[in-house]
Amino acid sequence: MDKNMLKDTAVSYVKEAADYIREQMKYTYGIDTKEDKDDLVTDVDRNVEKFFKDKISKNFSEHRLMGEEGSFENIKDLDGVVWILDPIDGTINFVHMGTNFAISVGIFEDGVPLIGVIYDVMNRELFVSVKGEGAYLNDQRLPLLKERPLDEALVSFNTGWVLKDKDLQSVVEQVRGTRSYGVAAIEIAYVAAGRLDAYISKKLAPWDIAGGCALLNEVGGVATNYRGEKLTFLDVDTLFAANPSIYKQIEKELKSR
Ligand code: IPD
Ligand code: CA
Ligand code: CA
Ligand code: CA
Repeated sequence: MDKNMLKDTAVSYVKEAADYIREQMKYTYGIDTKEDKDDLVTDVDRNVEKFFKDKISKNFSEHRLMGEEGSFENIKDLDGVVWILDPIDGTINFVHMGTNFAISVGIFEDGVPLIGVIYDVMNRELFVSVKGEGAYLNDQRLPLLKERPLDEALVSFNTGWVLKDKDLQSVVEQVRGTRSYGVAAIEIAYVAAGRLDAYISKKLAPWDIAGGCALLNEVGGVATNYRGEKLTFLDVDTLFAANPSIYKQIEKELKSR
């Protein structure tokens, strides 16, 4: 299938799933915890993943799905076409705030990001990219990221990590401002859109970053783990995603990583 048709199909699934989420928010839904009391999952997360699972197995039987809510156990490599899905990124925001959460899809081909779709469900902002064809926000093409001095940068952090890391504290002191949205996919999409200049986080899974990293590639952004190594999109890792000029300037501050 042509990559633009695949992108259109992925967008249509995401929009349908978003309608379902908004509808479910009118009612009570089940909330469970996973590894600890702050690790939330709802029936809505699970049902969105099931929706994608059914659609992909029916319409793309040769594609595989790596999703947060159970559809990842069998994925040990990224051979062929793999949909990397976070059915709701920012579940804590979804439950507590009823806004600031996203559906994130990264479609990879032999380990390379082909398509990124991130949809901010309540703010109705759709970030989409196709490899080699640029990234878009609600049909507006996102420009390549421009150089910017560190003292004019807006950076998003995992605050718990900043408390423990002297190098990051030095970055906080130098930048124009810091933010923390609690929704990795949107934070990476914001870096791609130039709304943020970097996003640094401590522990993210492939589904948190796949769609965002696909977008970043299309605007000249950089994404590695915190140590500057290539991301595998198979394991939990740190993330350092940034505008390329800001990446270089922050990197100089990370003396003990
Ligand atoms: C979480 C969010 C959050 C990040 C966590 C993720 P979830 O994803 O992206 O911003 O700090 O590490 O687990 O569980 O809401 O899909
Ligand atoms: Ca989760
Ligand atoms: Ca997530
Ligand atoms: Ca999730």
